[in-house]
Amino acid sequence: MKIGICNDHAGVDYKFRLAEYLETKGHEIVNFGTDTTDSMDYPDVAHPLASAVENNEVELGIAFCGTGNGMAMALNKHQGIRAGLCWSPEIGKLIKQHNNANVLVMPARFIPFETVLEITDAWLEETFEGGRHQTRIDKIPCR
Ligand code: RB5
Repeated sequence: MKIGICNDHAGVDYKFRLAEYLETKGHEIVNFGTDTTDSMDYPDVAHPLASAVENNEVELGIAFCGTGNGMAMALNKHQGIRAGLCWSPEIGKLIKQHNNANVLVMPARFIPFETVLEITDAWLEETFEGGRHQTRIDKIPCR
């Protein structure tokens, strides 16, 4: 799968480690994030990732910032994005099963890297349930 990944200065280390993990599993990773720990503004990398997902340049996205909230807020301004903020593998499953999240957002400063791997695997392996959940996500975009 072709996966876009982005991060601000708080998520550099986790971005590189997760990208390496996903590449060993056969995924192609496109890096939209900063590669240094110099302070930067997360919307500058969130919007390009969101556009790439909306334009099908990548199939899914993963984003890190300190709390995950800034990234989720910026990503979810895009009509075609359903970015889910996750801090446990159970939520990772549910944002795919129920919300068909096309971007996974994680709080780099608040979860250990082992949890990042568990969440990512759970989210990638789950499938969307459709049905009543499709009805609900159809109502998300502002009209
Ligand atoms: C950076 O200090 C921090 O504000 C950012 O990573 C993120 O948590 C914002 O939501």
